[in-house]
Amino acid sequence: MRILSVVGARPQFVKLAPVAHALAARAEHVIVHTGQHYDELMSDVFFTDLGIRAPDVNLAIGSGSHGAQTGAMMIALEPELERFAPDWVLVYGDTNSTLAAAVTAVKLRLPIAHLEAGLRSFNRRMPEEHNRILTDHAADLCLAPTAVAMEHLAGEGLGERSVLVGDVMTDVLFTVRDRLAGEPPILPAGVDAGGYYVSTIHRAENTDSPERLAAIIAGLAAIEQPVILLVHPRLASLAKRFGIELSRGAVVPVDPLSYPHLISAVQHSLGVITDSGGLQKEAFLLRVPCTTIRTETEWGETVALGWNVLVTDDLAALPAIVQRPLPVATSEQPYGDGRAAIRVADLLLASPMHN
Ligand code: UD1
Repeated sequence: MRILSVVGARPQFVKLAPVAHALAARAEHVIVHTGQHYDELMSDVFFTDLGIRAPDVNLAIGSGSHGAQTGAMMIALEPELERFAPDWVLVYGDTNSTLAAAVTAVKLRLPIAHLEAGLRSFNRRMPEEHNRILTDHAADLCLAPTAVAMEHLAGEGLGERSVLVGDVMTDVLFTVRDRLAGEPPILPAGVDAGGYYVSTIHRAENTDSPERLAAIIAGLAAIEQPVILLVHPRLASLAKRFGIELSRGAVVPVDPLSYPHLISAVQHSLGVITDSGGLQKEAFLLRVPCTTIRTETEWGETVALGWNVLVTDDLAALPAIVQRPLPVATSEQPYGDGRAAIRVADLLLASPMHN
């Protein structure tokens, strides 16, 4: 059987890793990289560090407005999907690369499996919300990470084509955590293990307004311990354009980290402050408190269990919220047991679709 994975952005490389390992030697696995992320630190290091072989095809689409980027991906993907004629097109998460692959495949009547299906923020201003809803509805098989995601899919009439597999990010996190066991994190000068926070800010809702971005940086700057800010290229370019200095107060800006370095840095931190979806979960899985700068989260389990607090507009309160007491310990595992990718491989191999 031939399975073709389409990836393009940083979180998709992380999700691809356990799936590629689970499929190895069991199926012919073709990897197509759209090129949505192209900087070495946003792309290549993930393939190297997570032991994923180089993509078979790189479409090198790069950045652009939503329509231009998604459209260019579709134009470039179509002949590749025709050439490989896979038994399954496997798409991941909720980026423009996900949507482009789903729309292109469904028009070619190729079977689509959507990994991380059923997540909803119910915030229609988020580009990712449209990407995931449209992809779920185009897909023949919705691979859901959580019970809540299954409920969303059932509520939209997609229950019969949905399966709860667990979260592949748990698989990769557990593997990397175990591999790192005992290794100290690599930290900027003057920052001590156990005495800092890790932060990432990259979503349009937080970066595209100068007032909001300045308020977020001011909130981070007022925290008592150092805040290692992993600077996504989008944040770097917008902060520069708005004249916002990132290096102020507690904030220590650094380049994005490779996945193992990120996990190590989070594991030894006092907490995480982020607007990333994946990092909220990674913090929870490592039992590190998280503060999320968003109006809602797709990962509500982290909030319900007390390990994640949302901050929307009251950014002046950010330092107090971040420096809150530790939550009550929990042994709950809402994100699966670390074997989701094997279930994904089993399902794809057992159920070839013919449209
Ligand atoms: C995308 C996803 C988002 C995901 C994020 C992970 C969409 C709509 N959004 O957002 O869901 O959480 O990836 O990082 O697909 N840039 C570079 N180098 C790169 C990549 C991007 O400099 O390698 C800069 C460019 O200026 C670009 C900007 O970052 O315009 C935004 O990149 P883009 O791929 O459009 O979206 P992300 O913000 O990365």
